[in-house]
Amino acid sequence: MPGAVIVHHHNRYKTYPGEVTGFVFFACLIASVGGCIFGYDIGLTAGLTSTETFLIKFFPSTYQQLKDQVVTNQYCKFDSQVLTLFSSSLFLSAMVAAFFAGPMGRAFGRKWTMFVAAFAYMIGACLGGAAENFAMLLTGRILVGAGVGLCIHASPLYISEMAPGPQRGMLNILFQLMITVGILSASLTNYWTSKIAGGWGWRIAVAFGAVPAAVIALGALAIPDTPVSLISRGEAETARATLAQIRGVGDVSEEFEDLSAASEDSKAVAHPWRELFFSGKYKPQLTFCLLIPFFQQLTGINVIMFYAPVLFKTVGFKQNASLVSSVITGLVNVFSTFVAIMTADKVGRRALFLQGGTQMIISQILVGTFIGLQFGMSGRGAISEQYAMCIVLFVCVYVAGFAWSWGPMGWLIPSEIYPLAVRSAAQSVTVAVNMFFTAFIGQIFLTLLCHLRFGLFYFFGGWVLLMTLFIAMLLPETKNVPVEDVAHVWRKHWFWRKFVVDTSDARGAEMRKKIALEMS
Ligand code: BGC
Repeated sequence: MPGAVIVHHHNRYKTYPGEVTGFVFFACLIASVGGCIFGYDIGLTAGLTSTETFLIKFFPSTYQQLKDQVVTNQYCKFDSQVLTLFSSSLFLSAMVAAFFAGPMGRAFGRKWTMFVAAFAYMIGACLGGAAENFAMLLTGRILVGAGVGLCIHASPLYISEMAPGPQRGMLNILFQLMITVGILSASLTNYWTSKIAGGWGWRIAVAFGAVPAAVIALGALAIPDTPVSLISRGEAETARATLAQIRGVGDVSEEFEDLSAASEDSKAVAHPWRELFFSGKYKPQLTFCLLIPFFQQLTGINVIMFYAPVLFKTVGFKQNASLVSSVITGLVNVFSTFVAIMTADKVGRRALFLQGGTQMIISQILVGTFIGLQFGMSGRGAISEQYAMCIVLFVCVYVAGFAWSWGPMGWLIPSEIYPLAVRSAAQSVTVAVNMFFTAFIGQIFLTLLCHLRFGLFYFFGGWVLLMTLFIAMLLPETKNVPVEDVAHVWRKHWFWRKFVVDTSDARGAEMRKKIALEMS
């Protein structure tokens, strides 16, 4: 795939030669498996906490309460805070780990961060699979969470730093693709292992996550670190050689100079955290690193990912049909991600956000309305088969919309808009906010459903409307812009340009003059 990075230098375009070589594709593919271990746990969580033998062993009183519940209102099922807290422990551990990923990356590089992450995950998965008591189970889950947190910090950054600009979207979305593959494999594994006689199948499901983790650990040994990470750690010559190898062209000096300049700039920043939060220079980046992950979770996607079987059972499907329906939404999730892979670098990030967002709003309103028409406010009654089918259909339309907008963009945008100086810190915030709200939504979903009833879908629909307007007004387009050059897009944006030019330094003043010239 031939390609060239286009740099918009105010009034001229510069191009770096480069293409997606087999080598760069391989490296990005290995890094993207980080998404798979994350997705696997999202899918696994749902199955594990509804497995009887698992509950009897580790949560006997919760199991009894679940058994004893008499459901009179479809909206209000038994809600065990202990059980959801156990589910959340993984995401909370990932949240904490995200803050260690930055210093680790600075000291050892992104590649070794992924290696350590995979290792922690493998130990955690084996410990969980072999758990004989609650302490073992929880320790395993926390280690798995730490692996997930480190990986989802390092993987998207690794890919965006390796990829040539014009194909960065496509390569980065491999990460989201792997998340969806992870979720789907977990639903299939859950389904298959639940059939094992003796009821110990969940152990296989838990331990199986070690397989993709081993792929990352072994793969990490075979791939190089990113050029900019190598330069930052004083390995300029290795960085130049790596750049030549991954670009597949002989002369990479221009790009190398740009990366070195970015690295110099970042070295001038001694305290990235202080710089990000208090210098006032990174207002757009700070806004996006807080809001993108928050909004991504407020789309309500994990209500579907965690609770699809419960939801489909609520609308009247039998146990088996519910599982099949969640496999269907899982498949829709995987295949729709290809739409983003094929179009993100062509139509751009904004178009996908706006189209996908609109599709999600419409389908959420329809799902809420169908459920409301059948169950009303009381939550009593049964749903007809046609209605149940319509609900599954529009849940699929919703999942498809997410899969080519907020899903991939929720990881792509953060990975490409932070300058090197604050990249690790900002990505830690992105991951931590995402993990916190993943846990939060999981924790409050059943309570929300009980109170808001079918209005829950309008609630999330309202959020998607808000975030779609936010994107329409405030997200600049980043397709084709090299990562180390994204600073220019803020300077041209109608809103952000008021905040980003730093007149206190000479470069900023010069930049301002140039922009003024360009605009006149
Ligand atoms: C989100 C997850 C979600 C998944 C669904 C990811 O981008 O971060 O929370 O479960 O997409 O495919």
